[in-house]
Amino acid sequence: MSDIVWHEHAISKTDRANMNAQRPVLLWFTGLSGSGKSTIAGALEHALFQQGQRTYLLDGDNVRHGLNSDLGFSDADRVENIRRIGEVAKLMVDAGLIVLAAFVSPFRADRALVRSLLAEGEFIEVHVDTPLAVCEARDPKGLYKKARAGEIKHFTGIDSDYEPPQQLEILLDTGKHTVEECVEQILAYMSANGYFK
Ligand code: PPS
Repeated sequence: MSDIVWHEHAISKTDRANMNAQRPVLLWFTGLSGSGKSTIAGALEHALFQQGQRTYLLDGDNVRHGLNSDLGFSDADRVENIRRIGEVAKLMVDAGLIVLAAFVSPFRADRALVRSLLAEGEFIEVHVDTPLAVCEARDPKGLYKKARAGEIKHFTGIDSDYEPPQQLEILLDTGKHTVEECVEQILAYMSANGYFK
């Protein structure tokens, strides 16, 4: 590593951000499986797109089909999953994009690590706060049923921990608010904090 020198290029992150008329940022959605992370992130991306913002959505299931297809759900694999996604998201923020990442990301230390990769104001932690009982009742992929039956091991909320955020920018109370209202809440935060130019 000591023989590898960082290159500064002629076009900066600020140049790219200005061309996109937005302040690049990583919106990090964390919550239990079935909490609504992907649904809310997808609806938010749609709303941002309609507004003319340049976005990219990184989603748990999709990233695990490619970049992280070698990883499972042991604690060590989840740590590596989030570390790689953090580095990829950082590159995308550097490219001037508004990046949305929807991952269970159950461990506080891993979310803190991703936050530490980015500059102040470039990381917005969004807790999709849906109680386990609600996620389990929804069970859109039938995974909770399998986890309860012992057919899936290390399932978050059942036999693997979820550490709710203590350091966060946005709390989404999905018990009280619809997907559309959650999207409005995030857009209002972004607007109030100068993410759109
Ligand atoms: S993590 O913890 O951040 O590394 O997980 P992530 O990459 O977001 O992947 C979560 C999705 O994988 C499915 N799945 C599991 N989730 C949690 N625990 C176990 N053991 C597990 N096995 C498979 C599950 O469908 C998650 O998708 P979402 O969209 O969150 O429901």
